[in-house]
Amino acid sequence: MSKTIEALTKRRTQYALGRNVSLPKDQIETLIKQAIRLAPSSFNSQSSRAVILFGAESDKVWSLIDAELRKIVPADAFAPTEAKLKSFAAGVGTVLFYEDQDTIKGLQENFPLYADAFPGFSMHSAGMAQLAVWTALAEEGIGASLQHYSPIADAALASAFSLPASWKLQAQMPFGSNEAPFLDKAFIEDEGRFVTLGK
Ligand SMILES: Cc1cc2nc3c(=O)[nH]c(=O)nc-3n(C[C@H](O)[C@H](O)[C@H](O)COP(=O)(O)O)c2cc1C
Repeated sequence: MSKTIEALTKRRTQYALGRNVSLPKDQIETLIKQAIRLAPSSFNSQSSRAVILFGAESDKVWSLIDAELRKIVPADAFAPTEAKLKSFAAGVGTVLFYEDQDTIKGLQENFPLYADAFPGFSMHSAGMAQLAVWTALAEEGIGASLQHYSPIADAALASAFSLPASWKLQAQMPFGSNEAPFLDKAFIEDEGRFVTLGK
């Protein structure tokens, strides 16, 4: 199997996170930065931004989201949400993925012909950065999932981590040790999904 396919196969959603990760935090940080740096972006705009949080700083993400959700979810129905948020905080860290809106505005001004396409391209670039990080973590045996608690706690997170106003939150990726086997994953048939011609 190709090394790339092997790496992509290892990347799975892991909700059962723990703190049994032996890779030092410095190396995890470097890995995440490299993955994002190497991910492609439209016009090489490098619009992706990331906040890499460990320990108490990562816990802050989930308690801020918890506090915001409590404002809208009835108290007697909050237990499952609380358990879920606790499971994300149970890992060693969280990556917050952002897209810099000033970069996108700059592209729109410089390349007016594509102006309408840049917000979409930014989403694509964000997804590429997320896949790159998720796969790089998986290669190191670190489990992760991709979450979308946004915009509910965007302002609280931006304030907690003193982030620029132009950074727009796209996703949260809690990561840690894999504390349970991955769930089974079904694949749809290739027929109807792929078209190959001219072989
Ligand atoms: C764009 C996108 C959004 C997703 N949003 C969420 C999410 O909000 N919460 C979550 O638990 N998983 C989310 N996922 C993870 C998918 O549910 C998961 O990747 C899919 O079920 C396949 O499982 P796998 O990751 O184990 O391969 C998202 C994945 C993608 C690509």
